[in-house]
Amino acid sequence: MSKPELAPEVEHFYAQVVDESVRLSTSADGRLELLRTQEILRRFLPPAPARVLDVGGGAGIHAEWLVKDGYDVKLVDPVARHVERAAKICMSELGDARHLAEADSSYDVVQVLGPLYHLPAADDRQAALSEARRVAKPGGLVVAAAINRYASIFEHVTYAHLHTERMQASIGTILRTAIHDGKRGFTLAYFHRAEELAEEMVAAGMVDVQVFGVEGPAWSALKAVEQQAGGAPSEDLFASVLTAARMAEPYPELLAASSHLLAVGRAPGASDTGV
Ligand SMILES: C[S@@+](CC[C@H](N)C(=O)[O-])C[C@H]1O[C@@H](n2cnc3c(N)ncnc32)[C@H](O)[C@@H]1O
Repeated sequence: MSKPELAPEVEHFYAQVVDESVRLSTSADGRLELLRTQEILRRFLPPAPARVLDVGGGAGIHAEWLVKDGYDVKLVDPVARHVERAAKICMSELGDARHLAEADSSYDVVQVLGPLYHLPAADDRQAALSEARRVAKPGGLVVAAAINRYASIFEHVTYAHLHTERMQASIGTILRTAIHDGKRGFTLAYFHRAEELAEEMVAAGMVDVQVFGVEGPAWSALKAVEQQAGGAPSEDLFASVLTAARMAEPYPELLAASSHLLAVGRAPGASDTGV
């Protein structure tokens, strides 16, 4: 298919700056993100084999464990480097979350774990979620990830530079506008509040929507150890932070402290539409 239209900053970031194939294995908060994403998804996934569309699936880190769990996964991503790496794991092709090439009602599960991070325009996020609903079978699982509006406060404390004038200005802009312009550090990004992510899922037609905090309220303790003490956090610290994420689940106030948010919902089925 033709090359998707991706913001040049986002293309540059994933093609040349970060290596998505190791992001979730080389840092403690990355390992926490992977483990929690797996445990939350496995609560909702239908039994394997089922058809999973991994939209913005990056280098295939989630596709990899899903394939091992017995799922039939196809990955779509706009970055050629990701599609090539993912081809070793599952069927993969270039594509854009806002206009998928897939047929209506063709997947048991559609996961959108990343595209919403880089779609600052509300219409684009709505298009991505509406496409996920369109290609999901009636009653199918639709999962979408977002970066938390407040994550940068916690993250930049771990680098011990939030008090500097430059970082206060930069993080203050994210808090006020929900957008990072991608000129320095991280690329062009949109930062969601939990309620907003739920509202966007519902506006795109999803039902039974729930939002989870992926890393929970204590993830930045892990990152602070890595950044400030220069070593790996102890297994006990990792276990405590993981426990905090699990214990926080019933308390929506604590969603604000998680680094990522995961919305889980379903495309409407016959019982939802009264057909
Ligand atoms: C942080 S990575 C996440 C990768 C993987 N899904 C994960 O959870 O580890 C964000 C991904 O979204 C992809 N992406 C950005 N804009 C997109 C768009 N408009 N449509 C589909 N994918 C997009 C990027 O290429 C990248 O692979």
